[in-house]
Amino acid sequence: MVINPGHPLSEAFGGIHHLYANKKAVKGYQTGKFPDGAVIVFDLLEARSADNAVTEGGRKVVGVMHKDARKYAATGGWGFEGFKGDSMTDRAVGKDAATACYQCHTSRKDRDYVFIQPRK
Ligand code: HEC
Repeated sequence: MVINPGHPLSEAFGGIHHLYANKKAVKGYQTGKFPDGAVIVFDLLEARSADNAVTEGGRKVVGVMHKDARKYAATGGWGFEGFKGDSMTDRAVGKDAATACYQCHTSRKDRDYVFIQPRK
């Protein structure tokens, strides 16, 4: 998905993003219920428009959802974290996951807190 300026999410998630799911998460997308160990990654890159085309720029943030029903019971069974740029250690969320991420994802409670539906 490409989120352009003017979109309600452009401040936080403007750019081009790809989503990746491990096998357990793929199973969750198929059944509507995600098992422990499911991991979904939101890979956000800058979107560069030039010559009537949009291409990828640098990485802005990597958002991660990790299912562990017990450990993350307070946030719907999902652990949420963001990693800045290409860093694997520089966390963008930390203890604020409930307000920074979960609060918005609760609108999808009936779908186990995920927004997208994979292409058939
Ligand atoms: C204001 C609302 C909002 C907030 C805040 C938010 N998200 Fe999301 N998130 C979305 C939407 C909308 C999508 C679907 C994007 C798409 O269609 O590609 C999404 C998709 C995702 C996905 C892919 C799985 C899915 O739900 O389809 C992950 C992983 C994710 N977000 C992680 C995070 C993390 C980590 C945070 C906190 C840093 C966060 N999100 C904060 C709205 C939000």
